[in-house]
Amino acid sequence: METSKRAIIIDTDPGHDDAVAIQVALASPELDVLGITAVAGNVPLGLTEKNCRIICELAKRPETRVFAGAAGPMKRRLVTAENIHGKSGLDGPELPDPMMKLQAQNGVDFIIEVLKSSPEKTVTICALGPLTNIGLALQKAPEIVPRVKEIILMGGGFFEGGNVTPAAEFNIFVDPDAAALVFGSGIPLVVMPLDVTHKAQTTAARVKAFRNLDTQAGIATAELLDFFERFDEEKYGTDGGPLHDPNVIAYLLKPDLYSGRFVNVEIETESELTMGMTVVDYWKVTRRSPNAFWVTDLDADGFFELILHRIGTL
Ligand code: RIB
Ligand code: CA
Repeated sequence: METSKRAIIIDTDPGHDDAVAIQVALASPELDVLGITAVAGNVPLGLTEKNCRIICELAKRPETRVFAGAAGPMKRRLVTAENIHGKSGLDGPELPDPMMKLQAQNGVDFIIEVLKSSPEKTVTICALGPLTNIGLALQKAPEIVPRVKEIILMGGGFFEGGNVTPAAEFNIFVDPDAAALVFGSGIPLVVMPLDVTHKAQTTAARVKAFRNLDTQAGIATAELLDFFERFDEEKYGTDGGPLHDPNVIAYLLKPDLYSGRFVNVEIETESELTMGMTVVDYWKVTRRSPNAFWVTDLDADGFFELILHRIGTL
């Protein structure tokens, strides 16, 4: 008997690691990608929505529906990361401009509409960027909260601290107010923080394996990773850099690759010193109720084997 596909919305700010995650999702028959909503983050919205369409065509899925969501955080000024992803957000490979069209509907309204029209607790949100679109959707239509099956998000850090400030990881830092709404919503959350993504290193051997696929998607992925890892190699003095976003999709496909702990996570939204910090009560020193499954470990070889295989099918 065919098991039913898992319905997902991917909310994203491509971004090199987002690009790998989206390809894996589009290559996986277990997943039904209802739509991809772009958000401002790594680069401005006009580029993240274009990059979503570029990646869908790279994955030979031009029928995928791509929506543009928020052009900036709910309250704060937009902070971008061209220093890591380049001016285009996908620097490295030569990728053609997209032919597929952007959907006319706003991404936030799409998220609300899908959640209201789908059977309750059947749609999973995979969040790969700042949580602005999701925060706005929860604010505009709080009635969708009980309808969301789960949110799997890449963001935050506890043992690894931050990557954009000493205290904060980029996705949460860009829009801490949206993150506070999501973490305070009561929606089941699975979090892929720097604590686990820093254990998923794009070593030279792993990048070579993508190049050796000798396909358009494989070679482009190797070129994306070659460009993406240079910043973290210099920063951390490592062979390769952490591959963040594809862990969200890999968790849906093979959750046994991961382990973690159900804990309370609060978001700093006041102090400029620690703005966007994920304050994790990992050792249960408070009476705050757990609200997120905080992933800390993975089978890194199993993860890379999975994403290599899936991209190899494109
Ligand atoms: O901190 C890493 C996260 O910020 C990743 O999602 C990356 O794509 C950027 O959005
Ligand atoms: Ca991202």
